[in-house]
Amino acid sequence: MRRSISIFILVAVTVAIAAASVMSLIFIKNQPVSTRGINPMVVVNAMEPDSAQWGLNFPNEYSTFLLTKTNQVRTMYGGSLPYSKIEADPRLVTLFAGYSFSKDYNEERGHLNSLSDVRNTKRVNDKTPGTCFSCKSADNPRLWGEMGMAKFDNISFSELGKHINNPIGCANCHEANTMRLIVTNPALDEAMKAQGKDWRTFTRQEMRTVVCANCHVEYYFAGEGKYLTFPWKNGTKIENMATYYDDIGFKDWLHNITDAPMIKMQHPEYEMYTANSTHYKAGVACADCHMPYIREGAAKFSTHDVRSPLLNANVACGACHRDVEYVTGRVAVIQSQVQETMNTTEDALIEAIKAIKAASVQPNMNTTALEEARRLHREAQLRWDFVASENSMGFHNPEEALRILAVSIDLARQAQLKAVQAAGNPALSRTAETVWNS
Ligand code: HEC
Ligand code: HEC
Ligand code: HEC
Ligand code: HEC
Repeated sequence: MRRSISIFILVAVTVAIAAASVMSLIFIKNQPVSTRGINPMVVVNAMEPDSAQWGLNFPNEYSTFLLTKTNQVRTMYGGSLPYSKIEADPRLVTLFAGYSFSKDYNEERGHLNSLSDVRNTKRVNDKTPGTCFSCKSADNPRLWGEMGMAKFDNISFSELGKHINNPIGCANCHEANTMRLIVTNPALDEAMKAQGKDWRTFTRQEMRTVVCANCHVEYYFAGEGKYLTFPWKNGTKIENMATYYDDIGFKDWLHNITDAPMIKMQHPEYEMYTANSTHYKAGVACADCHMPYIREGAAKFSTHDVRSPLLNANVACGACHRDVEYVTGRVAVIQSQVQETMNTTEDALIEAIKAIKAASVQPNMNTTALEEARRLHREAQLRWDFVASENSMGFHNPEEALRILAVSIDLARQAQLKAVQAAGNPALSRTAETVWNS
């Protein structure tokens, strides 16, 4: 008797709990959307250039991304204060003589400034091709899709500019809705194909580096159509790219003191980093340091405030290194060593330039030797520039940076010796006093 009563009570309680749960689920389901907690996803158009649209779905990524507009802090060798590199180092005027970089060359800033900065640089004039917008705008993926890259590159900067309204945005790195990281720049897709690689087969961790190679690479404008091309056919190390440029006889400008056909390096962070650096070999990606996971309340996400990791080293380095003070101390040591060696390289280059100039006006100079001196000037300077235009002051790959600078110094001194030989005048070989005194 007692037993059947307790079974009855148990059944009744179970039924009551089940009924209550069903009713509360029905109640929650019928509540207006706004009180349910998580908003439904807005469908974003393919290649939507307006990041605010994507931001409706991903407010944390969007709000941190907005910080790149104003995060203007300077670090010892980097940061986002757009100071003039020429005022900081007047030797650049001689090194880039005859080229627009001798007039205007500023430290770079955060992603949301990309469009206004490219429009404001004095390097842009009426001969500038549309190609210069290639790594500056979230409108590009859509325009490349509509008109193809050949046409995009073959229009003038001012004409193409009429179709470009947005700075870098979500569409430069993500596929809409799936949010997959993708290659959006056709030049990167083609450069990978030329090496027999297909990024579609890459792992997620690989894409966390490759997505930056849409822009943070060395490139040039090929032919009359100014077709955006990465010089990667032989590989991505500096020697591979130098050989590539030599083979096709390419120059960015003619140096107007030495008459040497010169190459300007752009911003080869990807090539420097992937040249067997310790971090790259350990499987670390660009995003690990520049877009570390951060927490806000219960949410954990990748910060999109891409900037110098030295400004948030506890998070950026702390995810892997316990002693953050030690590793940031190493950054300071590495950067000052690379800076010092770069200074020595610039002195050697300037000496070579002076000697070539002096030799070129000597009566009876040896033209074959002078040509050889010019070739050496080109080779020395493009190597120095690979390190100088790479934005980490050597940190991304300290050994490689110092190796390249050593070769560059050697080539610059060889250029100077060749010029002395061309002139038949040993006085030209006097080494700059600054080198002896330091
Ligand atoms: C192990 C961490 C780490 C990795 C990985 C890394 N970086 Fe950096 N990066 C740094 C540090 C440190 C600096 C120096 C910042 C400074 O001097 O203020 C830097 C500087 C930069 C700068 C200049 C920033 C400034 O403030 O001027 C750019 C651009 C950059 N990195 C891009 C990349 C790209 C692209 C990749 C991948 C190909 C990459 N980084 C991989 C740590 C890293
Ligand atoms: C410069 C390239 C770049 C841009 C621009 C960019 N992202 Fe990302 N985003 C990344 C990378 C790299 C990751 C890390 C992906 C991974 O780990 O698989 C990421 C991750 C994400 C994720 C996955 C969750 C997370 O936080 O890790 C979301 C969502 C996202 N981004 C949204 C956005 C939105 C919204 C925008 C525009 C406001 C945007 N992203 C712009 C590179 C970018
Ligand atoms: C669509 C092209 C594009 C992509 C993709 C891109 N960048 Fe950039 N990045 C730029 C440009 C252009 C600038 C300089 C903007 C300026 O100075 O106005 C820049 C600036 C930077 C800076 C300097 C910011 C500062 O505060 O000085 C860092 C660091 C950086 N990018 C890292 C990365 C990393 C890491 C990735 C990949 C996750 C990446 N970028 C992907 C184009 C790109
Ligand atoms: C995703 C993990 C990861 C992040 C993030 C990371 N590192 Fe590392 N770091 C490594 C690994 C792995 C090594 C290889 C040596 C080791 O195993 O300790 C290394 C090595 C180093 C070394 C020694 C280099 C050498 O050649 O021996 C320095 C210095 C260093 N990291 C600095 C930094 C700094 C500064 C940051 C932040 C800007 C940083 N790391 C961010 C994983 C990371």
